Order: sequence, then structure tokens, then C-alpha cells
Amino acid sequence: MGTPPSLLLPLAVLLAAAAVSLQTGATAPLGKEKTTQLHFFLHDTLSGKDPSAVLIGRNALHAPRPDDPTPFSSVYAADDVLTEGPERQSRVVGNAQGIYVSSGKGQLSLVLGMDFELTDGPFNGSAFVVYSRNTVTRPVGRELAVVGGRGRFRMARGYALLRTHFLDNNNGDAIIEYNVTLLHH
Ligand SMILES: *[C@@H]1O[C@H](CO)[C@@H](O)[C@H](O)[C@H]1NC(C)=O
Ligand SMILES: *[C@@H]1O[C@H](CO)[C@@H](O)[C@H](O)[C@H]1NC(C)=O
Repeated sequence: MGTPPSLLLPLAVLLAAAAVSLQTGATAPLGKEKTTQLHFFLHDTLSGKDPSAVLIGRNALHAPRPDDPTPFSSVYAADDVLTEGPERQSRVVGNAQGIYVSSGKGQLSLVLGMDFELTDGPFNGSAFVVYSRNTVTRPVGRELAVVGGRGRFRMARGYALLRTHFLDNNNGDAIIEYNVTLLHH
């Protein structure tokens, strides 16, 4: 018994779709995976007339205190400068844009969703993306997950090791050292 004609057309459509997706894969190769190390300092400035991070909102039950300027539930929008050295006057190498939320009820902890774009050097215009918890008060072993990338960092995954270079506990201003290891195509 042959296949009923009513089943032939859907099958033909399915086969055509499969052929198209196979072809797309073959014509856009990703190339070899590479490893890139980046080192820079991030300036997160909450104080002054031109802050790089501003409060979007916070729950009314969690008011800021002098020793806790970013209480649980605070959400910030950030456009933080990345520099080569720890000083603000040091060469600018990029910026990190996104949001972070104060997510620790008992102890200060931030969850960052940020896009780090480089504006200098061989990776100018490329970016890696972090979505991760930042255990701010932990003195060592702070690590963020890199979950993606753009441009030359396409398909990036990796991690960033963080160390606080400077922190003002009263206004929240911080300079953070980043060592980033990226696997990308
Ligand atoms: C980075 O790329 C932008 C856009 O193409 C360009 O305007 C800028 O001059 C470049 N910067 C450096 C330092 O190469
Ligand atoms: C980053 O790497 C440099 C060079 O290996 C090292 O001196 C520095 O302590 C590292 N910093 C962090 C936060 O891992």
C-alpha cells in the first residue's frame, strides 16, 4: 500500500525545512574557539552631580542607612566607565551598561545584568555579557559568570574574578578590579 497523498505534502515541507537549516549551519561557520584574558577597573559612582549608577527604585520597607546605602530591593541603572588602571584619569577602555539589584536580605549581595563593551584596542566594539551574583562583602573569591558576547566575543562564556580596589561605605562609590577569562569564537 502506498503512502496516502494527503501525507506527502507535509512530509515534503518538513524535508525542505531540514535542508534549509542544514545549509545555514554550513555557510556560517563559527571558527575556532579562542581564549582571551582581559584586565581593567570598573568605576561605579553613586555620589556627586554626575553619578554613573542611579537608583531606579526600591521597596518602601527597606530604607537606606548610613552603613547600608544599597538595601535589599534597590535597583540601579548603570553606565560605568572601564579604565586600564585604577585611577579615573587612567586610559578609558570601555563601559559597562545594565542594571544591578540588591538581592541579599541578610548580607549585601548584588545580581548584575550588564553588557561590557570595549572601546579601545583589538576588541574595540565587542562586548561580553555578565548575568551573575556579586557577593560584594566576600573579601576573596568573588566571581561572576559570563553568559554571552557580541562582535569578536560572539558565543562567549567564561568568568570574571573581582577584587574591590576602593569602596566608600557611606555613599557606595566603588572601584573594582576585573580579571576576565573568555572562551569565544
Ligand atoms: C573604536 O571604534 C569606534 C567605532 O568604529 C571608532 O570611532 C573609534 O575611533 C575606535 N577607537 C579606537 C581607540 O580605536
Ligand atoms: C588579576 O591578575 C593579575 C595578574 O595575574 C593579578 O596581579 C591580580 O591580583 C588579579 N586580580 C584579581 C582580582 O584576580
